[in-house]
Order: sequence, then structure tokens, then C-alpha cells
Amino acid sequence: MDFISRKRIAICCLLAMVFLTCNDIDGEFLGVVASASPEASQAGEKILKKGGNAIDAAIAVSFSLAVTEPAMSGLGGGTQVLLSIKNQPPIAINGTTFSPEGTQSVSGDTLTYHRRSTIPSTVKVLDYLYQKYGSGNVSWEELIEPAIEFAEKGFEIGPFRGKVYQKYEAKLQESPYNTSLFLIDGEAPKTGQRLKQPILAKTLKRLAKYGADDFYKGKIAQAIASDMEKNNGWITLEDLQNFKDPKELTPLSITYDDHNVYSQSPPCGGWTTLLIMKLLEAKSNGDQINTDDIIEALYLGQNDRRKHPVTDLIQYDSLVNEKLSEQYVRQLLTLVSDSTASKETSIKNSGETTHFSVVDASGTAIAVTASINAYFGSLASSEELGFLYNSYMDDFTFEKPGHPFALRPNAMAYSSMSPTIVQKNGENVLVIGSPGSSRIISSVAQLTSKWIERQDISKIISETRIHVNRNRVYLEEKKDTALVNDNLVEKYNLEFRFPDESLMIQGQLNPYYGGIHAISKENSNWIGAADPRRDGLSIYVID
Ligand code: DON
Repeated sequence: MDFISRKRIAICCLLAMVFLTCNDIDGEFLGVVASASPEASQAGEKILKKGGNAIDAAIAVSFSLAVTEPAMSGLGGGTQVLLSIKNQPPIAINGTTFSPEGTQSVSGDTLTYHRRSTIPSTVKVLDYLYQKYGSGNVSWEELIEPAIEFAEKGFEIGPFRGKVYQKYEAKLQESPYNTSLFLIDGEAPKTGQRLKQPILAKTLKRLAKYGADDFYKGKIAQAIASDMEKNNGWITLEDLQNFKDPKELTPLSITYDDHNVYSQSPPCGGWTTLLIMKLLEAKSNGDQINTDDIIEALYLGQNDRRKHPVTDLIQYDSLVNEKLSEQYVRQLLTLVSDSTASKETSIKNSGETTHFSVVDASGTAIAVTASINAYFGSLASSEELGFLYNSYMDDFTFEKPGHPFALRPNAMAYSSMSPTIVQKNGENVLVIGSPGSSRIISSVAQLTSKWIERQDISKIISETRIHVNRNRVYLEEKKDTALVNDNLVEKYNLEFRFPDESLMIQGQLNPYYGGIHAISKENSNWIGAADPRRDGLSIYVID
């Protein structure tokens, strides 16, 4: 096929997509689901069609992501949630994982496999959402059913997931702890192959039949505890039995232009996301945000987080309010830079974790970020259970006892997660979030500010992104260095870096910069957008 015909087909597809995202389609609008795996988005669609609300759909999406993106999130991980019921002010659900009671003071390099895992929160969070905010129209079993089917019948590995598997093949082959469950005949599944997970299917069936309690108090809990005991892990049956419901919190918020932006409270990184947005708003001063503004806002916000972290993860209100005040923003912008050259740490080439968004016809919106931390978490699974434990213990701060994230028992895990909801005139208009550790903050702040400025979520999601760590500026496209003002480079002693490109699946778009799955209301229509850096899909659901 020649280039012109290909282009014509592409234009037709684009027009069809625009048509499909408009509300003038026959049929009743039920909602939108945008997630990193087509299978998981379809699971959400199924639940909306059965009469479930956005919360029900989100639970089904979560369980299905645990099967179809096992490198990113799962039953062994943590889940952070921001939700707004029927356009009411958002609520934050702090679904942090916690370090086990038996955590000892050790150095970071002694944490391997089972010992890397905090106590998983995901199942507890999903159960809490179901009990408190589910519609009651769909049963718990029905929400897990699609995930069981993907685990039993297999799912097709998409191009991004295929690359991740290839890159981590050796690690999966080397681990002595049942990571062959994620291989096909001992080899990493390739794009287009089907991966079945019969053991995970059995665990999911138990969860469907006996409920979330089985994970914390029943047979699944016993299996986790005995696997941990056998393999040097710290998580005990008591840790699981004592694990509490997630706490509901008032999300952090700012005004930005004429919008209200809500993001996740500590221990998450929402405050830095909002601080960067305030810096961007002040820098752009009503003009279109440019590359220099983004770099400066990211530099100041990310370094403020590093040097002046939120010190109290429970009583944080007054410090966070101060940090989000006009005065603090002005102060940061007029600060004489200390422009210390960075100590080089290795570039983490990662896009692990997952974020998805759902809205339903009533306006209820939910933003969920879920993770097992590193790709394939701790690289350990129980032969009986078939899911990977997380590696959140890696992110505690070692040998600094006074630090808010110092390694100690029963401590909340450090996180950059920033599920975010934007409201205008009291209505939800944007639901957004991303994976990518500190890149979560850079990407969510950039895209949310850009969207408030000019909407068009599908276009914004495909634009190149920027991340700043210390004085290192990561540009997604190398030629963009030419856009950066020399005075800015000099002021902050900036150095340009370019991350590993081995996981790229589309043009110059690198999953290093996150994987945004967002839903926005534009010209009174809901539009879902899946990040082209991953395998995801957004579905506009009509009856
Ligand atoms: O901020 C968190 O919760 C993460 N550490 C989760 C992992 C992630 O997004 C990708 N990590 N490099």
C-alpha cells in the first residue's frame, strides 16, 4: 500500500474515532474506561453494561490488570485511589502498603526477593471500594470473573508488554521463586503470544468465592505467611490479619485558572504535582506554557520534594498548605539557585506501575494507580498463589532514622503516585494519573496544566514530555534541547539526559515518561485517552 492510501486510511480511522467519542451515537451513554490493557478496559466495559457504576468497573479493571499486566500491578501490590461520587468533592483513599511488624534495620542491599515486599493492600482497597461505593447491582464474583477468564484462557501479549518481557527475561529465568509462571516454556512471552496463568486463576477463584477476607485471614493469608517464612520474608499471618481498611482522606487541592485540582495526600506525591502546577501557572502567567516554564517548574518542585520532604505523613496539613501557597511559590521562583551538580545515580529505565481512569453516566469518576513497584516486583511468587510480591521495601530510606520514610516496622511506603481529578464549576472534567515513580509527578503536572490551558486530551497525551531529576533534564525528543534557553541552563547548571529507548513501541514516545490513561470532558462530551507509550485502550461505553 502506498503512503497516500495509508494516510487516507489513517484519516478515516481518526474521523471514525472522533465520531465514536461524541455523544451523538445512538444508545445510552454508560461511561468511559481508559486503562493500560485492552482486556482490562473491556472488563470495565462489561461491568458498566451490567449496570455497575464507575467504582464497580474500576474493581473489575484492577483485577484484570493484575492478570494482563502482571509486571506492573497485582494482588501482591498497593493501590491508591481518588474518587468523586456524582461530581461531589473528591475523596482520597490512602491504599498504601505497610512495612511488616518484623522489619529489621538492615542496609538496602540485603533486601532480596520476599524481603522486598511490604504487606499488600490492593485486595483490601478493592474490597473497601466494593462495600462502600459499589452500586450493589453487580456481585463481587462478577467483578473478578473477567480476570479469572484472562488467567485461564490466556491473554495476548501486546507490543509494550512483549518488550518488557524480553528485557526482563534473564531476571525471570534466574529467580528461584516461581517466576517461570510468567514465562512460556521457560522463555519470555513474545508480542502476540498468549500467556495463561492457571495458578493465579485458582487464587482469583478463591477470592471470588470466599471474599477479600481469604487474602488477609483465610487460606490465601496462610499460604502467603508460610511462603514468607520459608523464604526469609518478613510478612507474617499476624501482619495480614491486622491489616486495616484504607483510610479516607481529604485530598490535597489547588485552584488553577478557574479549575479545582485535587490530588493524592501523603504518603503519595500529590503535593509535589500540585506545587509544580502552581509554579507553572505563575511562570506562564496566562500565556501558553513553554518548554522553559516546564523545566523550571519541574526543577524547583522536584528538588523541593527531595530537599524539603513532607516530614509528618499524618499531620501534614499546615506544611502542605504552606507549600501550596502563593507566597511559597513566589519564594521558590525568586530563590537564588544553589545549582549543585548532581551526583550521578543510574538512570532507572522504567515505566512500571499502572494507572487507569473510569467515569460513569452519573458523573462519578475514579482515578486509580496500582503497583508492585519495580517491573515484576520482587521477582518472587508462591507456587501455590501465582502472583508476584511487590518490592516497595526497596524505596524506604536506609541509615537515616529521622527521615519520614526511614526503614522501620509498620511504616507507610514512599510513593510518587498522583491520581488526580479536576473539577470546574463543581463538575468532574478531568480524571488522570500515571505510572513512573518521580516521573509520575512530572507527567501528571505537565499534562494537567496543559489540558486546563487548551484541552484536547488525545493530542496532549501524544506530545513529548519532560522530566527533571536534580539538575538533569530528560527530554523525550533530543532535538528539543534547542528549545531550552541558555540562561536557564546556566542558572540551574542543567545537564541534558536521554533515557534508554529499548521499551519504545511508537515513534519517539518513551514509556520512561509514564503511561497516562485519562478521561476528560470537552465540549460537553467525555473523551477517553490511552497513552500510545503502552498497549492500552480507552472505551466509550454505550448500551
Ligand atoms: O511511587 C510509587 O508508588 C512507585 N515507586 C511505583 C513504581 C513506579 O511507578 C515505577 N517505578 N519506577
